[in-house]
Amino acid sequence: MFGAGKVSEKRVPIIAGNWKMNKTTVEAVNLSQHISFECDMAWEAIEVVICPPFTDLKSVFNVLSFDHSSIKLGAQNVFWEDEGAYTGEISVSMLKELTCDYCIVGHSERRGIFGETDEMVNKKIKALLAGGVRPIMCCGESLEVRDARQTLEFIGEQVRRGWDGVDAEDIAKSVIAYEPIWAIGTGRAATPEQAQEACAHIRSVIAEIAGEDAAKKIRVLYGGSMKPENAKLFMPEPDIDGGLIGGAALDSKAFAELVEIALKIK
Ligand code: 13P
Repeated sequence: MFGAGKVSEKRVPIIAGNWKMNKTTVEAVNLSQHISFECDMAWEAIEVVICPPFTDLKSVFNVLSFDHSSIKLGAQNVFWEDEGAYTGEISVSMLKELTCDYCIVGHSERRGIFGETDEMVNKKIKALLAGGVRPIMCCGESLEVRDARQTLEFIGEQVRRGWDGVDAEDIAKSVIAYEPIWAIGTGRAATPEQAQEACAHIRSVIAEIAGEDAAKKIRVLYGGSMKPENAKLFMPEPDIDGGLIGGAALDSKAFAELVEIALKIK
């Protein structure tokens, strides 16, 4: 089997902050200024991404460019059509114009609350890659699935369906975040062993559908109650290439600490 630490390729780690539906424009300017100030580190060795709400993208972009910051911008969602009568939706070219390098797709909150399916995730991934934006695709199981010992099958299926028909080269430059639903916003993070097992499995599924080279290159993150206190335990795991951070990304000091930990350990 592929994965489980057998893949030794050096990958640039990522710490990505998902702000979810938090921060007005004024608050977003303030938080991004603090993050930009706190995260003044060695940039070639790590990618730092912040994903504010759509309404904050422009003002956060202004802060980061004023500071000549290397922090990258990401969105939290996208629609797959390029323009037209799709009230309330945002296209890839709109994100691209705001210099978004990344976009989260298939977050469990979008799947659970807004009915996003694997097929929709697949269309979004394809549209993003066609438009030059890297997807951060989320997958993860509920507690029921974990208790039924179906976790690996479940996330494997989400990965297979999400990336169906996508070129290996495009998969290689993308990101997958393993976010068990029961660990999101609960303060109950997965154990490093559980996270490593899931991330190694994700990598092995990528090897199966896109080949070993893509599996060696794709970054796989852990997300779910990651904080500076527990990040030290996740980062040494061989198949975990960083974190997708919710709550702790809204605190500039905690977020900067996470970046520092990833930089030191990965
Ligand atoms: P928390 O870090 O708040 O658990 O959220 C994780 C998450 O959903 C990131 O996308």
